[in-house]
Amino acid sequence: MAYSDKVIDHYENPRNVGKLDAADPTVGTGMVGAPACGDVMRLQIKVNEQGVIEDAKFKTYGCGSAIASSSLVTEWMKGMTLDQAAEIKNTSIAEELALPPVKIHCSVLAEDAIKAAIDDYRAKVAK
Ligand code: FES
Ligand code: FES
Repeated sequence: MAYSDKVIDHYENPRNVGKLDAADPTVGTGMVGAPACGDVMRLQIKVNEQGVIEDAKFKTYGCGSAIASSSLVTEWMKGMTLDQAAEIKNTSIAEELALPPVKIHCSVLAEDAIKAAIDDYRAKVAK
């Protein structure tokens, strides 16, 4: 499997690896697994009073494309509103990283993780 330069860059220098306090009411946590391969991604966002994502962290137990996809989206999401982040499509991730067809599900995992983190945050706020 030949990885693109961008995948290798994010894989070797992943951005925003880490953990936010899941108990913090301003933090949303998304944890998703890929049925196709069993890889797991945890994505967390910290949202400020204006509804803007001010921090994002991830931890991915998975392939290089999944790590690169999550690293990329943490960069993209910082400074976005929740609605903007919810619009991030796996196709944009796959295009940016030049993922081959067999690795498209890795970018879907990142899109699903974003949505799960936003849902978790919104459920907390609704309480
Ligand atoms: Fe196992 Fe992605 S298929 S790491
Ligand atoms: Fe399954 Fe990448 S997430 S191979």
